[in-house]
Amino acid sequence: MAAVDKLYTSTAVVTVKAGDKFNGITVAWITRVSWDPVMVAISIGKARYSHELLSKAEGFCVCVLGKEAESIAMRFGTLSGRDSDKFAGIPHTFTERGYPVPAGTIAYMECEKVGSCDAGDHTVFIGKVVGDKILKNEEPMIFGEGRILP
Ligand SMILES: Cc1cc2nc3c(=O)[nH]c(=O)nc-3n(C[C@H](O)[C@H](O)[C@H](O)COP(=O)(O)O)c2cc1C
Repeated sequence: MAAVDKLYTSTAVVTVKAGDKFNGITVAWITRVSWDPVMVAISIGKARYSHELLSKAEGFCVCVLGKEAESIAMRFGTLSGRDSDKFAGIPHTFTERGYPVPAGTIAYMECEKVGSCDAGDHTVFIGKVVGDKILKNEEPMIFGEGRILP
């Protein structure tokens, strides 16, 4: 086990527009980075389809998953939007700004992309939170020790 596995984080599906469709990616490398204005950062592998989409996007939505949403986390975290529609058959609603929010989300943050930073095999995308909502006042799904924790 590596020491970085001791960094525990919430787990989210980050949704983004993909042409006339949408994609979502499960993200555990995520944190808040500014208090005023509120900003968050997500770290996305350069080979991911979502990396291509986020590089071009003006914004994205961070949908924080609840503890019961493991099947959603695994669907959005194993399939690729390159060759599948991850939202097909998955109940979802839309935010005020039109981002999809999959079932299992307890809170979401609509973000305006304000920057990005090269980070080895990942890129860190920084978003300013421009809209948010708590849907269920529950604890989030936690990722740590290299896995989703019970
Ligand atoms: C629990 C979990 C956490 C993940 N966290 C990240 C992450 O923080 N950053 C990342 O780039 N990929 C992460 N992944 C992997 C992507 O979600 C996965 O490669 C996904 O299929 C990429 O989809 P895309 O090709 O549609 O972008 C995670 C996967 C799982 C299951």
